[in-house]
Amino acid sequence: METGKSEELLEAEHYVDVIQHIQRYATHTLIKIAKVDSDFRRMHPKYKTLVPSFHDKIRRIRECIAVNQLFIRRIVEEKGAFMQPGIDYDSLFAREGPVNEERMSKIRSTLRQCYRDWSVEGAAEREQCYGPIIRELTRRYPTVESRAGVKVCCPGSGLGRLVWDLAHLGFTAQGNEFSYFMLLTSYVILNCLERPGEYTIYPFVDDCKNVLRTEDQFLAVRIPDVDVRDLPETAGFSMVAGDFLEMYGSQRNEWDVVATCFFIDTANNILHYLEVISRMLKVGGVWINFGPLLYHFSEMDREMSIELTWEELRSTFSTFGFHLEREETGLPATYTAHPFSMLKQTYSNVFSVCVKERDVDLDALYAEMQQKQQHSRQFAPRSPSAASPSPAPATAAAAAPSQPQQQQQTSNAASSYAAVAATVTTAPAPQFSAAAAASTSPMTDAH
Ligand SMILES: C[S@@+](CC[C@H](N)C(=O)[O-])C[C@H]1O[C@@H](n2cnc3c(N)ncnc32)[C@H](O)[C@@H]1O
Repeated sequence: METGKSEELLEAEHYVDVIQHIQRYATHTLIKIAKVDSDFRRMHPKYKTLVPSFHDKIRRIRECIAVNQLFIRRIVEEKGAFMQPGIDYDSLFAREGPVNEERMSKIRSTLRQCYRDWSVEGAAEREQCYGPIIRELTRRYPTVESRAGVKVCCPGSGLGRLVWDLAHLGFTAQGNEFSYFMLLTSYVILNCLERPGEYTIYPFVDDCKNVLRTEDQFLAVRIPDVDVRDLPETAGFSMVAGDFLEMYGSQRNEWDVVATCFFIDTANNILHYLEVISRMLKVGGVWINFGPLLYHFSEMDREMSIELTWEELRSTFSTFGFHLEREETGLPATYTAHPFSMLKQTYSNVFSVCVKERDVDLDALYAEMQQKQQHSRQFAPRSPSAASPSPAPATAAAAAPSQPQQQQQTSNAASSYAAVAATVTTAPAPQFSAAAAASTSPMTDAH
């Protein structure tokens, strides 16, 4: 932490920096397009005349960026949603830091995430990854009545569509997210828009690479594709802002379901995620996972990145008290991909369903193992063949004592959409700042 600065101030500075990057969307993207345009103009006229429509395309790109800017402006207008009391935001906004290219790319990927989560056109991509999770849950809870009060947590929920879909089906669903880009955008979509299709955006307009037909670049999507207020009375919907490990790390036996989609590989230490997921689930609860093992910290030299194969990972499940009930590998899914792009990255995903069979206290297991090793060292006969300690038994330790539940903001949709708004808007500032400040990577934009 910088000397003299409170965690709240550092977090507020980060938030302001994110907003300032969002504000620069149009300017920055137009600069990028200006380079494409000027490179074309620099060509010898004998080449330029070969593609007479190019200038018209650049004009249209500029117009579409201006249309995107209308939605961006709406996001910026709602910036008060995540401001904390007691911070002098005017003076923070008065200073403007340098442009961070990575952060700039986040706002463009946020527009693509809008396409993935909240457009008709994104439905096929959603079906690939949210589909198996939703089908598994509706199979387990076939009627709306049976879903009432069933608590589902979706960590790393991005723009929140899976959470909303589950609430729409009658579950009590909670999303958790730590990226301000995601939080503020989903806040606007879920709380501030009046009707389906209110904004038109062009999520791929700035990408001139791998475009088959010129028109593909101008793929327009209207967001949201649904009336976000359309939730059954028995459902619940809430969003919790903050780092997953901080928000749920001390919870015990709270949840019926944890649904992770493209999330578990965002960890510095994936086994720590598994430990928290296991502890937060009730005995008999289910962890449903869909996604690859991209390991988001892999290329970051200064970050820990525990990179296990799926085989290694699944071999730990029973120690965490999980019974692997279902496993499918090789399920294809794209992530915010243009449907007609000439370059499409398709992940070959794992879909898994684990039932938590028992409570496990990993610390107690480890202590037990240490004790056994010590014991075998003390009493081992002095023969070299008897030197290796016996492996730790994978037995369950006593149930961890239940701890006070942290930061949960579950609402009941019975009290209308206002409840949805309240749960998102009332994410108390201290909760957010404390969580983000304590996380190993407080600049929380990894997606
Ligand atoms: C690859 S994206 C997946 C988003 C969404 N589940 C989907 O499928 O579209 C991973 C998300 O997890 C969020 N995330 C990463 N680490 C997190 C953490 N420790 N706590 C909360 N959210 C986190 C990122 O900000 C990002 O939005």
